[in-house]
Amino acid sequence: MLENLPYFQNHLEADLGRVNTVINQAVQSEVALISQIGTYIISAGGKRLRPIITILAGKALGYDHDKLYSLAAMVEFIHTSTLLHDDVVDESELRRGRKTANNLFGNAAAVLVGDFLYTRAFQLMVGSGSMKVLEVMADATNIIAEGEVMQLMNIGNVDITEQEYLQVIQYKTAKLFEAAAQVGAILASATPEQEQALKDYGMYVGTAFQIIDDILDYSGSVEQIGKNVGDDLAEGKPTLPLIYLMRQGSEQAAEDVRNALQNADKSYFPTIYRHVQQSAALEYSTGQARIAVEKAIACLDNLPQNEVTEALKALAAESLARIS
Ligand code: IPE
Ligand code: IPE
Ligand code: MG
Ligand code: MG
Repeated sequence: MLENLPYFQNHLEADLGRVNTVINQAVQSEVALISQIGTYIISAGGKRLRPIITILAGKALGYDHDKLYSLAAMVEFIHTSTLLHDDVVDESELRRGRKTANNLFGNAAAVLVGDFLYTRAFQLMVGSGSMKVLEVMADATNIIAEGEVMQLMNIGNVDITEQEYLQVIQYKTAKLFEAAAQVGAILASATPEQEQALKDYGMYVGTAFQIIDDILDYSGSVEQIGKNVGDDLAEGKPTLPLIYLMRQGSEQAAEDVRNALQNADKSYFPTIYRHVQQSAALEYSTGQARIAVEKAIACLDNLPQNEVTEALKALAAESLARIS
């Protein structure tokens, strides 16, 4: 996807090389198992969306120094640590096309290495010397934790409203996209208006991104998403396509979804998959993601218009392209 963007080919590939240099160095530990598991998940790839956003946000405002790359790596470390923890919580077996760390090394090792990456991220922030970055990331990581717990409390909740769902995904996912953009803005000494615009951009892209991710759990393939499909349903997670079915689907679909969520069992997947496919659930959910992408792009209107802001727009649009 992103590889096809001209800006990516001309600049971003090299920029990500600089980020990877920091990552590869920062994942090292005298404790061999930490480097092993850290390298295992990081070398599996991942789209590096959040560090890309940090880099583009900084560069859009003309900032391009080493700190941009070390803090982009920091953002990816926070993301990676949440994935290690999330896969334990979700009992997921596949991530980035590989066995999850918990699957291969056990829950204890995955949680503890997640802690290592999380705290290493804070060391990188302190290294940047920016109290503002530290403040933004302390608040963001705190919100992410709240989002994950909020989601836990909503497992099997058939009465969850769309607004409550949106709050969960804004906390657990969009907040880090928001912080990623804000960190770039802070480094670039953005005006308060520019910083707010980039923050909002990140928040809307992150929201669209999670809605699309939730759609892919009912429409993607294992090869495409590098994760098992149907995991959300097996967990009893009420995502947007299911909320749509419970509100606007046929009576039968609504009842089947309620049963599936309350019993959280994989055996319901074929039935629910059929309801999702035969209804407007995906169309509706995609429409909501599209609205968020349009809002994200509109946030960039008052920033300098250059090839970097164009790349930010393209990145926002690409989050929708994942499902086409
Ligand atoms: C996975 O994020 C977690 C979600 C918020 C859905 P990504 O899909 O960005 O994960 P990687 O880094 O590309 O594997
Ligand atoms: C991703 O959440 C983890 C965080 C955002 C903290 P999910 O559980 O929805 O994402 P996947 O499907 O495992 O990537
Ligand atoms: Mg998960
Ligand atoms: Mg989860």
